[in-house]
Amino acid sequence: MRQIVLAGNWKMHKTQADASAYTRALLSQPLEPNRQVVLCVPFTALATVVDAIGNHTQISVGAQNIHWAEHGAYTGEISGAMLTELGVRYVVVGHSERREYFGETDATVNQRLLAAQSHRLIPILCVGETKTIREAGNTETWILGQLDAGLVGVDLDHLIIAYEPIWAIGTGETCDASEANRVVGLIRRHLSSATITIQYGGSVRPDTIDDLMAQPEIDGVLVGGASLDPAGFARIINYQASTVAV
Ligand code: PGA
Repeated sequence: MRQIVLAGNWKMHKTQADASAYTRALLSQPLEPNRQVVLCVPFTALATVVDAIGNHTQISVGAQNIHWAEHGAYTGEISGAMLTELGVRYVVVGHSERREYFGETDATVNQRLLAAQSHRLIPILCVGETKTIREAGNTETWILGQLDAGLVGVDLDHLIIAYEPIWAIGTGETCDASEANRVVGLIRRHLSSATITIQYGGSVRPDTIDDLMAQPEIDGVLVGGASLDPAGFARIINYQASTVAV
């Protein structure tokens, strides 16, 4: 069965003090059951958030990157063992900001995915096109290319994909829900896995979540800016489920 996963990506936001106040505030809200929640927080807040969550099994903690080596001279990087030791269960891999600002490629993304799985972490692989690629009519080819190159040797049963059109990230320009559904469906057919969770990400907000989650192909969301406020993120977790005619 496809699992619903609502993930927040804090990016480079929140100190340890902010993180523990946030987690307490989120836990004080009623949350719809059967929806897995993941908080992808800065490395410095991982232990704090794991601790604050305690035994609330609905919420897990994710990191925002992982290196492929077990250890070594890789200044500024972090290994799988360093993450799992803290109780981390998920890790974002190949976010467009990592690709754009830090030179990550499909080849390094692949290595990071393999490392995550070898440590029994569930990677959330981000794929998505720029506006230029979309306007040139190359969205499908681009995304399927990112998948083919990134997923070599990767186990689809322990993986989440996030379709994140780059032009919709942090811009307030949400991808139309039906278009997000179309691309997510394309990814699903390409991977031919009946059970993989595929999320949408890019300017998801409390007022757009219901529409997105009503789409039959979309199994959850990866939320940046709107996940920073616990009340807003709780509203996203508590989206109103409805069905749309396909
Ligand atoms: P955004 O970020 O929700 O702020 O657009 C999404 C993401 O980068 O995962």
